[in-house]
Amino acid sequence: MLFMGIETSCDDTSVAVYDNNLGVLCNNIYTQKIHSKYGGVVPELAARNHLKKIIPLIKKSLFKIKKNLSDITAIAYTSGPGQINSLIIGAMISHTLAFSLNIPIIPVNHMEGHLFSIMLQKNKPIYPFIGLLISGGHTQLVYTYKFGEYKILGTNIDDAVGETLDKISKLLGLSYPGGKNLFKLSKYGTPKKFVFPRPMILKKNNLNFSFSGLKTFVINFIKKQNLKNFKVRADIACALEDAVIETLYIKSLRALKKYNINQLVIAGGVSSNIKLRIFLHKKLKKNNIKLFYSKKKLCTDNAAMIAYIGSKSFSSKNKKYILKNIYINSKLSLEDKI
Ligand code: KG4
Ligand code: ZN
Repeated sequence: MLFMGIETSCDDTSVAVYDNNLGVLCNNIYTQKIHSKYGGVVPELAARNHLKKIIPLIKKSLFKIKKNLSDITAIAYTSGPGQINSLIIGAMISHTLAFSLNIPIIPVNHMEGHLFSIMLQKNKPIYPFIGLLISGGHTQLVYTYKFGEYKILGTNIDDAVGETLDKISKLLGLSYPGGKNLFKLSKYGTPKKFVFPRPMILKKNNLNFSFSGLKTFVINFIKKQNLKNFKVRADIACALEDAVIETLYIKSLRALKKYNINQLVIAGGVSSNIKLRIFLHKKLKKNNIKLFYSKKKLCTDNAAMIAYIGSKSFSSKNKKYILKNIYINSKLSLEDKI
């Protein structure tokens, strides 16, 4: 069976085809460059670009794997969370295709996609495991009992980790999305030259995240620095990254110990950060905890993870298009049932 995945939750337009026997056949991603000059995603422009790119990407995907639309068993699309205008484009194209082909349509939770992108790799965790979801809009610790059964142990009560990295990197003159560029800059920094706070780590039972205080601290700190000096910018990048990485580690270890779990899956765009991976791997190993992460293309937004969730949610009892409603929810939570 072939599952087509359509991802349009933010600024990446992506189309993938997943074969339930052979795995991912293609995973095409078009990253919209237009937002970098604005220093962040402009929702209206993102939606317009999805509209422009989605059909060419579908055509390209099928052409690449020498398949036709008529070979597709079902279509899975990102129904949330994400930016509403962008979600609408993916939902509409997916429903229109499924309707015209008379095949099932499967709405997918984007964060469930991130959490399970690890299952597209050879080295997979076994249930139960704890997921650390770190993306532009989310910072969450998720107890994963099995596919479809999750408990959010902690979440960001304000800015998410990716959002914080992107905002500070903009102030350091780096282009959007900043996480990756901040990492490149931080390599030139001297560790511990500056030390920034590790937010919300004192209350021993707390598994939530709050990065807005750290963000404000760094903004105020930056005002007193000479940003024309490259070394100063690099030292700030390094200090911010270290503060974020250590905070993520402290909270993750706390959750793993509390629930007596020895596997941590990191997922979402920020999980592609090499410094974070090395730090977590080293620290968790000492605690006999195994760390799992995906290759970069599966960390950031992609449709392969959406197609994969589609295959897991698919019921072979239904082989036709059934219109319940065109489901989108910009605030969709992992604990919500679609
Ligand atoms: O998961 P994702 O692609 O999109 C959302 O669902 O939000 O995550 C995007 C976030 C951005 O904030 C970006 O700056 C961050 O992931 N990111 C990184 C790296 N690559 C992307 N952060 C740190 N280091 C990276 N190498
Ligand atoms: Zn994402």
